[in-house]
Amino acid sequence: MTAGVDSPLALDALAGLWQDPPTLPVKWLYDERGSRLFDEITRLPEYYPTRRETEILTARAAEIAATTGAEMIVELGSGTSTKTRLLLDAFVAGCDPGGSRISYVPVDVSDEMLSVTAEILSADYPDLDVVPVVADFTEPGLTLPVANGPRLAVFLGGTIGNFTPDFRVEFLDRLAAALAPGDYFLLGADLIKDTGRLVAAYDDKSGVTADFNRNLIEVLRTGLDARNLYADDFEHIARWNPAEHRIEMWLRTRRDVNAWFEVLGKAWHLPAGAEIHTEISTKFEPAALAAELASVGLPAVAQWTDVAGDFLLTLACRRESP
Ligand code: SAH
Ligand code: TRP
Repeated sequence: MTAGVDSPLALDALAGLWQDPPTLPVKWLYDERGSRLFDEITRLPEYYPTRRETEILTARAAEIAATTGAEMIVELGSGTSTKTRLLLDAFVAGCDPGGSRISYVPVDVSDEMLSVTAEILSADYPDLDVVPVVADFTEPGLTLPVANGPRLAVFLGGTIGNFTPDFRVEFLDRLAAALAPGDYFLLGADLIKDTGRLVAAYDDKSGVTADFNRNLIEVLRTGLDARNLYADDFEHIARWNPAEHRIEMWLRTRRDVNAWFEVLGKAWHLPAGAEIHTEISTKFEPAALAAELASVGLPAVAQWTDVAGDFLLTLACRRESP
C-alpha cells in the first residue's frame, strides 16, 4: 500500500536513506510478506535459535509459571506466538479453577499477523483472555495493562540483540519503569558461539534470509511508489563483527541504483557496491547480560540454557524501588 509523504514509512525513509550508510528501522522488515518469511526462517536447518529456545521453554515453562504466579503475560514482538504456547499451556494448567483468569497480551507491529494469531489463540485457549495490542515497542511511553496479580513481560527470539547497546539500556530502563515491583521479565538471548554457525544462521543456503532482508526494498518500492528500484539489484550480506559480538546484516547494490520515490518527490542514487545497513543481531554472554539487567533494577532470579549451550533464557524480577 502506498503511504503519504508524512506517513511513518516516508518519515523514516527521509531520516535514514540519505545517511552514510543508509539505514531504515528494523520494524519495516515485518510487513505481511516479511512476517511470513521470518516464520520460514524459524524452521530453517541453519537457524538454531528457535529450536533451542523451544527446548528451554519446554523444560522450564512449569517452573516459570510456578515461580512468577503471573496473572498476565505481556509479550513484546510476539509474531506467531508459537513458542509462547508452551508458557500459555503451563500458566493455564497451573491456575486455580475458581480463581481469576489469566490474560495474554501479545504486542507487535505486524497487525495482520497479530490479529490472525490472536483469533487462533482465543479459539485454542477458551480459559485465556487474549488481548492483542498493535504497537511499536521502541516508542517511549511503553505502558503495560493493569492486572490483579503479578505480570510477566516476555521478550523472546533474541530480539533484544537487534538493539544497539545504547538503545538496549534505554529499552530495559523503560521496561523496568513500566513494571511494578514483584513483576517479572522473561528474556530470550542468543549466545556467542562458533562464527561459522552464527553466519550460517543469518545466511542460509536456501536464501530465505536473503529474501527476508531484501524484502525491505519491496517495502520501500510499494510503500513509497518507487520507480527503478528492484530487490534483485541488492545482495544480502551477513557479517560477524567480533568487537561488538554481533552479526551485521547489509544489502549491497549489484549495480548503480538510480531510483525515484514518487511519494517523497526525491531521487535515490547508490553506486554499485554501496551498502545499506539493515539489522544487527547481538550475541551475549550470560553473566554480562545478567549484570546489565541488574543495573536497571531487574536482577536475574534464574538463567537457563539448552543442553548444547546455544541459547539463554533469563528470568528477572522487578526489584522493590530503592
Ligand atoms: N517472538 C517471535 C518473533 C520474533 S521476530 C519469535 O521469537 O520467534 C520479531 C518480532 O517483533 C516480529 O513479529 C516483528 O513483527 C516484531 N517487531 C519488530 N520490530 C517491532 C517493533 N518496533 N515494535 C513491535 N514489534 C516489533
Ligand atoms: N530476532 C531475530 C534474530 O536476531 C531476527 C532475525 C533473524 C533477522 N534472522 C534475521 C533479522 C535476518 C534480519 C535478517 O535472530
